[in-house]
Amino acid sequence: MKPSPHSRLHALGRSAAWKWLHRSIKQSLRYGKTIPTDTLAYRVLAGVGEVPGMPALERALYRLLLDYPKKIDLFINTECQLRCRYCFVERHPAGKRLDEPMLHDLIEQAARLQVHVVQLLGGEPTLHPRLLDFVEAIVRRGMIAVVFSNGVALDENLLKRLSGFGEDVAVFYNYDHPAVFKAITGADCHAKVMQSIHTAKALGVHFGLFITLTKLNTPYLEALVEQALTLGVIPTMERYLPQLEHPDLAAELAIDAPTWKEARALMAKVCAKHHRLPAAKAAATFTGSGCPDYHDNLSILHSGEVLPCPFTSRSESLASIFEHSLAEVWDLFRARRATYHAIPAECSACTSLERCGGGCKTATFLTYGRYDRRDPLCTGEEDIPFKW
Ligand SMILES: C[S@@+](CC[C@H](N)C(=O)[O-])C[C@H]1O[C@@H](n2cnc3c(N)ncnc32)[C@H](O)[C@@H]1O
Ligand code: SF4
Ligand code: SF4
Repeated sequence: MKPSPHSRLHALGRSAAWKWLHRSIKQSLRYGKTIPTDTLAYRVLAGVGEVPGMPALERALYRLLLDYPKKIDLFINTECQLRCRYCFVERHPAGKRLDEPMLHDLIEQAARLQVHVVQLLGGEPTLHPRLLDFVEAIVRRGMIAVVFSNGVALDENLLKRLSGFGEDVAVFYNYDHPAVFKAITGADCHAKVMQSIHTAKALGVHFGLFITLTKLNTPYLEALVEQALTLGVIPTMERYLPQLEHPDLAAELAIDAPTWKEARALMAKVCAKHHRLPAAKAAATFTGSGCPDYHDNLSILHSGEVLPCPFTSRSESLASIFEHSLAEVWDLFRARRATYHAIPAECSACTSLERCGGGCKTATFLTYGRYDRRDPLCTGEEDIPFKW
């Protein structure tokens, strides 16, 4: 059957929007390395987003043209050298993995769905002997590979091989302050991690720094951010998300609302100083949040279960990848989207609603067992997009 002029126009629009988004994502990963100045396009988009009615229109366009998972998390192994106290990953001393043909098949399926970014996590993914094969497969299919790592085994040899993929690959380091590193990870290897980060910088590997905020490291947050800036990076920050299986840890590690507010204000100040706010605001306006999880993401665990966010409760599994294709799982996600994004009553009059959407869905679900509540760490109106 011949495509109608309307469907041809739609395909053209979709392809142009996909290319623009893909370029922007690559750019933002490069920005992890060299602090950028916001582009004119972002400044215009952020300005347009301030016009009443525009955010809803932008989001409708975004969903019409680009409704597919933008990011896939693949948990490729469970082994790890560290024992981070907050870690949500189910670890197996002997190691447990999704088998290789399955992982390659998932990468293929992701490419067919037009996914932009495949994140490789574990355990510690650099301990997987086939890591580079997965990275190569992801890049060969036109996607961007992001390796999350604690940095311990990320030596010069591995970094050199990753640098060979250029801007199609980025590394996100689990990044913490030396004063708390051992208390959190149980190991005395902070210097080794920093050495890996410096080597990545010297080799030109695109890298980001991921801070998990706990009660232990918040006193050092400013110092951590300052150090990241000297490395040319605006760090990404997430609060420690207490897991339902470990309620005792929450009292010890979870931060409170005023601390979260202060941390976000600090990040907003840094973003503004480095001309990054318009980009963060524009991205949050388009997607309705600063975070891809629960919006444009599927996280595939070692067990084959697929979650809308890697940190959320296992009860929120959409399906098993052994029983459903990724496309089918995405349809299940879409069917639940309205539940995930129900507007909490406490948020209905908030002027930040368009960019915040009620806050972190995982934190909300882990706290209240439902989605139609305000983020448990929100103290009221906050116009602070910090993550994208
Ligand atoms: C699970 S690790 C896996 C990859 C690698 N081993 C690493 O540490 O980056 C991925 C990221 O999740 C973060 N993380 C782990 N448990 C968390 C939790 N309960 N809440 C928030 N972030 C957490 C870690 O700090 C790390 O940056
Ligand atoms: S290094 Fe990563 S996988 Fe290992 S324990 Fe820490 S957070 Fe978990
Ligand atoms: S800032 Fe707070 S009140 Fe406003 S939308 Fe977000 S969670 Fe709701």
